[in-house]
Amino acid sequence: MTEIRNIVVLTGAGVSAESGVPTFRAADGLWEGHRVEDVATPQAFRRDPALVQQFYDARRAFLAKVEPNAAHLALARLDAAWPGEFLLVTQNVDDLHERAGSQRLLHMHGELKRALCTGCGAAPAWLDALEDGPPCPNCQAAALRPDIVWFGEMPYHMAEIEEALAACDLFVSIGTSGAVYPAAGFVDVARRAGAATLELNLDPSAGTSMFDTARHGPAGILVPAWVDGLLASIKA
Ligand code: APR
Repeated sequence: MTEIRNIVVLTGAGVSAESGVPTFRAADGLWEGHRVEDVATPQAFRRDPALVQQFYDARRAFLAKVEPNAAHLALARLDAAWPGEFLLVTQNVDDLHERAGSQRLLHMHGELKRALCTGCGAAPAWLDALEDGPPCPNCQAAALRPDIVWFGEMPYHMAEIEEALAACDLFVSIGTSGAVYPAAGFVDVARRAGAATLELNLDPSAGTSMFDTARHGPAGILVPAWVDGLLASIKA
């Protein structure tokens, strides 16, 4: 463990599940009762903007009802204490990592608490509903959409993430099904860079065989245990 200096952690919906945020790939194939192509694509937004705005307005409002769990708190503890490079990349659009105190954090699929101007491209912090069509506070003209990376759109911060993956000694994937690229391919990038790889997930992900080590169980148990072990190794 002592040779580990640079760490990249990827999180998905499973890290927020114990906070009460539903994961995406439920057994019925629906996301909160909707087909993904009806709410999470640019085509859906063009076809029925009101439905898409209502959907994300409800998700944004729901954030007031949930709190970070033991996994979010442990990752923030690791960020604060780790002496080497550390990057937490989340696919989640909730704000539970930042509310837990994580600092070195990138949201690759956007953020519920941000809007995106369809005209000027500004991405202002946004806590209210978008359904009534408020104008962009920057250009005062164009409409705002949720600042969410939909299917078919380019995830954010990819250059920075790839740079961190290429330089990491340890890559850890937490609470993600490994069904959506490019995030599902990060384990392969890290392996090629010579990093050790660890999966912490409720059950084996689609890419579980690509990891050196996989531990299966709830993130609220597995993540604090892993963080405690890692921090103990730097004190030893
Ligand atoms: N602890 C750990 N893992 C859990 C827990 C838990 N308490 N509960 C569920 N999981 C696991 C599930 O077993 C599953 O493998 O979390 C994973 C969640 O998978 P998905 O619902 O597919 O979520 P995610 O991988 O984050 O989805 C990726 O797909 O819909 C798009 O853009 C969206 O960011 C999302 C992306």
